Amino acid sequence: MDTQKKTIFSGIKPSGDLTLGSYIGAIKNWVNLQEEYNCLYCIVDMHAITVRQEPALLRKRSLAQLAQYVACGIDPDKNILYIQSHVPAHAELSWVLGCYTMFGELSRMTQFKDKAAKNEDNINAGLFTYPVLMASDILLYQTHLVPVGEDQKQHVEIARDIAKRFNGVYSETFILPEPFIPKTGARIMSLQEPENKMSKSEMDSDGCICLLDEPDTIMRAFRKAVTDSETCVRFDSENKKGISNLMTIYSVATGKNFEEIENEFDGCGYGDFKLAVGESVVELLRPIREKTQDLLKNKDYLEQLYTEGAMKASRIASKTLDKVYRKVGFVKKPRF
Ligand code: TYM
Repeated sequence: MDTQKKTIFSGIKPSGDLTLGSYIGAIKNWVNLQEEYNCLYCIVDMHAITVRQEPALLRKRSLAQLAQYVACGIDPDKNILYIQSHVPAHAELSWVLGCYTMFGELSRMTQFKDKAAKNEDNINAGLFTYPVLMASDILLYQTHLVPVGEDQKQHVEIARDIAKRFNGVYSETFILPEPFIPKTGARIMSLQEPENKMSKSEMDSDGCICLLDEPDTIMRAFRKAVTDSETCVRFDSENKKGISNLMTIYSVATGKNFEEIENEFDGCGYGDFKLAVGESVVELLRPIREKTQDLLKNKDYLEQLYTEGAMKASRIASKTLDKVYRKVGFVKKPRF
């Protein structure tokens, strides 16, 4: 770790295939930040099991996610890439921080309320204390910046509150983290229900694009994308949610701004526009899909990556954990 650089931490749950939403809202920005910061990018499998997972599929997705991080341009020589369950310090710090987190503040988390409503038969304690584990992920590495999409802002804020509370009781222990939310694409919406976030758990597969989708699947989803009764390609995120979402995606895929896009499609129908957005996404994702397929053929390489990542992460994490254990009054751990 370069001590001159600030630290970034972020993670994604392997509870579904990576989506265009998680790419635009998170991963794309991780790639841009890797030169300037010390970065740790995690596959947060422990968070994934707050909702029931098929074990074989969870294992497969966790590895595929690692391959996709690399295929998206996250350089394993410059960043620490690892799997959360390989670094026990996350769970250990989570227990301690849980004792400094209030029932009331966890009850107010919107993601908990949403998930509890969707999983009525499995509102488990892990779902409730999810933000504490996420705070541990972030605080273990003395993180300055957490690049996430809009929906994770509240979780980064609670991590900051927990850190402040702990620092207040025991003196300066944790750096206070800040969320880093992109200006364009912080909330990519479903192509079928543009009032809802594009999400991997979405039942309607046409609303969600996955990074490994084949070109014809992508084109079909864009052709069927919900728009509105006008015929004008114009950005208006209140009244034209579908078109505005497509414009955001096109802007990210091509680098064009909204004015350029409005001019380009002036006088065209929605059909042409949807086709162009679909094609731009096919080209954006093509190299990622191909590189991922290559990487997945080399399981030994992936194993070496996540092993090295976990070793590096553990070394940093244990420094913070030792400090926390000392501050709360635990007897020094024997070495065995
Ligand atoms: P997760 O796995 O739901 O999503 C991963 C990342 O992708 C972003 N994202 C989106 N951004 C824009 N539009 C969308 N439709 C969209 N869908 C997903 C999310 O905001 C997120 O940045 N709790 C986290 C995982 C986590 C974490 C952490 C993140 C665990 N520990 C520590 C940061 C730091 C989550 O469920 O993300």
